[in-house]
Amino acid sequence: MKFLGALHPAFVHFPIAFLLAAALAEGLLFLNPSTGLGTTVRFLTWTGAGGGVLAAFLGWFAGGFRLSDRSDLLGMHRWNGTGIAIGGLILVAQLPKGQNITASRKWFRLLLALIAGLLLWQGYMGGELAMGPDHLGLKG
Ligand code: HEM
Repeated sequence: MKFLGALHPAFVHFPIAFLLAAALAEGLLFLNPSTGLGTTVRFLTWTGAGGGVLAAFLGWFAGGFRLSDRSDLLGMHRWNGTGIAIGGLILVAQLPKGQNITASRKWFRLLLALIAGLLLWQGYMGGELAMGPDHLGLKG
């Protein structure tokens, strides 16, 4: 249990980096479809979603197996992270089939943008948990 929980901080980088990079690549594809980034987006979405499931799985070992937490921060981090893992799987299912980049990508794009936002929040909350309140010094 302790070992798997200790691996959580190492694995959180994968969904954060890969899914944010997928959002960037999809944004560039939106602006210029001839960039040919469709395959890149597919790869980053698959690896990012897989990383999200792994990070969330290990997170439950780090935070303990309970449904409610005394700390609001840990509770939000727990359920936002679990939601990101599930959302990542739905995102994979929304990937346009094959190499066809002209297929409608509306729902895929909306979900990817939502997950990217939730990941930024998740990373911030994780930093608060690991390094303490206002770890970025934003509150002055
Ligand atoms: C996609 C899912 C998740 C992401 C991206 C994520 C991200 C993070 C990040 C960036 C940190 C800070 C790591 C560090 O700087 O050392 C962290 C810490 C933490 N996370 Fe998550 N997390 C996820 C899911 C979860 C879940 C489902 C739980 C369950 C409770 C959880 C529990 C924790 C705990 C307890 C810490 C503090 C660990 C420590 O102090 O060493 N995480 N997380």
